Amino acid sequence: MVSVNMAVNLGGIAMRNPLNTASGTYGNGWQFEGFYDVGATMGAITCKGVAAEPWAGNPAPRLAELSGSAIMNSVGLQNPGVASFVEQYGPYLQGLRDKGCQVICQVAGHSIDEYVRATELYEELAPFASGFEINISCPNIAAGGAAMGATPAAAAEVMRAVRPRTSRPIVVKMAPHDVAEIGRALEDAGADALSLINTIPGMSIDVRTRKSRLSRPTAGVSGPAIHAIAVRMVWECAQAVSIPLCGIGGVSSAEDAAEMILAGATAVSLGTVNMYDPACAPRILAELEQWAELQGVSDINELIGAFEC
Ligand SMILES: Cc1cc2nc3c(=O)[nH]c(=O)nc-3n(C[C@H](O)[C@H](O)[C@H](O)COP(=O)(O)O)c2cc1C
Repeated sequence: MVSVNMAVNLGGIAMRNPLNTASGTYGNGWQFEGFYDVGATMGAITCKGVAAEPWAGNPAPRLAELSGSAIMNSVGLQNPGVASFVEQYGPYLQGLRDKGCQVICQVAGHSIDEYVRATELYEELAPFASGFEINISCPNIAAGGAAMGATPAAAAEVMRAVRPRTSRPIVVKMAPHDVAEIGRALEDAGADALSLINTIPGMSIDVRTRKSRLSRPTAGVSGPAIHAIAVRMVWECAQAVSIPLCGIGGVSSAEDAAEMILAGATAVSLGTVNMYDPACAPRILAELEQWAELQGVSDINELIGAFEC
């Protein structure tokens, strides 16, 4: 019988265990109900990025499988807009809250005004949201997204604009660069937690047609191939900030999740793995608990940042 405390706190979001989901890779939860009881299993889920108004996203093809344990996507944050999102998924997401699973709603925008507007709409319409994740790191849209988080000053400006619009916890989703400097700027601007990393921009060319394998020349790489890079960035960011981190990037096993925790992550998100191993979360959670017990601790929090150089 495992008896380790698995509860963690991600910047004011009290999670029963460290397992979260990476935005855009998990639908909005209900798609996984056929595999396990989402509300009874997950510490939290993070929903797909949603903007104030609906976005059509990019043309197809939007996904390509790469050799070497990775995929590439250029979905471009297709979403129905906050009001329609809340209408469609609100009752299900409230049900998750009722079962003890936290619900993090992701906010997307092309400009500071759009981030503010989407946050205000969520604040008004979504009582089920435990907190918000501000996505300033999407590499697949022409305006906003990663450009909003490209420098410490730009990232902090978004954070400062959004901060007064809600008293609920704000997590900021970071791009895979300059994570120490940008993380510090976000902490100073009032972020409660940081999540990292978003996908890494890449290219994949069909050599027969000489065209991109996706509808855009570049797209975001994710999956096991990026895991070691993500662990390094979580560790670098953890040295620079004192707010909690959610580790994201190529996690596909309990061992991968444990690495994130040792590098300094309080929570860990499952992303691309959900697409090829949709039943993985309960197994990873049970094995993570066994790992913590084998490490001889009674509380998983003792292992956060416990990496020894
Ligand atoms: C199909 C797809 C859609 C995604 N959509 C979003 C999104 O809406 N917002 C976001 O912040 N990240 C999005 N991401 C990035 C993931 O949340 C995650 O940061 C990234 O995939 C790295 O984690 P992984 O290697 O475990 O998948 C998406 C990734 C994929 C593969």
